[in-house]
Amino acid sequence: MDINQDIAQVLITEDQIAGRIKELGIQISKDYEGKELVLVAILKGASIFLADLVREISIPLSFDFVAISSYGADSRSSGVVRLLKDLDESIESKHVLVVEDIVDTGWTLRLSYIVENLRSRKAASVRVCTLLDKPSQRKVDVGIDYNGFTVEDKYVVGYGLDFNGKYRSLPYIGVLKPEVYGGG
Ligand code: IMP
Ligand code: MG
Repeated sequence: MDINQDIAQVLITEDQIAGRIKELGIQISKDYEGKELVLVAILKGASIFLADLVREISIPLSFDFVAISSYGADSRSSGVVRLLKDLDESIESKHVLVVEDIVDTGWTLRLSYIVENLRSRKAASVRVCTLLDKPSQRKVDVGIDYNGFTVEDKYVVGYGLDFNGKYRSLPYIGVLKPEVYGGG
């Protein structure tokens, strides 16, 4: 069984992702020159993006992870989220860049108070870098400082993004065939 066969359409190719991440890395290296930079990736989706992004950033940095859980079938509409794994290291007086796979409704970054929570720990700054932005679904405003690609209102998988825990390992961003998610 080959997971590529479940993909109806490739939206963003491996090469496009790599090219854009190079640009983001150059920009971030410039913007944070001389500052103590900590990237905080949100598990699990952002892990692959983080791994490629840090290798395109030329200034010194460290990285850490947080995990967030949504509850219930209507968690997407209720916005109930909980911090499952906290940072390992203090971020006091450091410049934090939150790394996310996709900003959809905005609740993960807002109602979980991730951004506010990190700010309250006396970080010197907290900004957001997302691989994908899906603005059509936004419910709460999230200040996005770095965005890889803006995507239309489609459920996407690959490059860290999953459907029922699968497809994170695809090297590109794609759309599933309707029969895979029961839509066809
Ligand atoms: P938000 O809280 O609605 O902004 O959603 C952000 C999270 O929802 C992301 O970190 C993903 O885990 C998940 N998500 C939102 N849209 C998609 C999608 O199209 N494909 C896969 N996961 C998604
Ligand atoms: Mg996520």
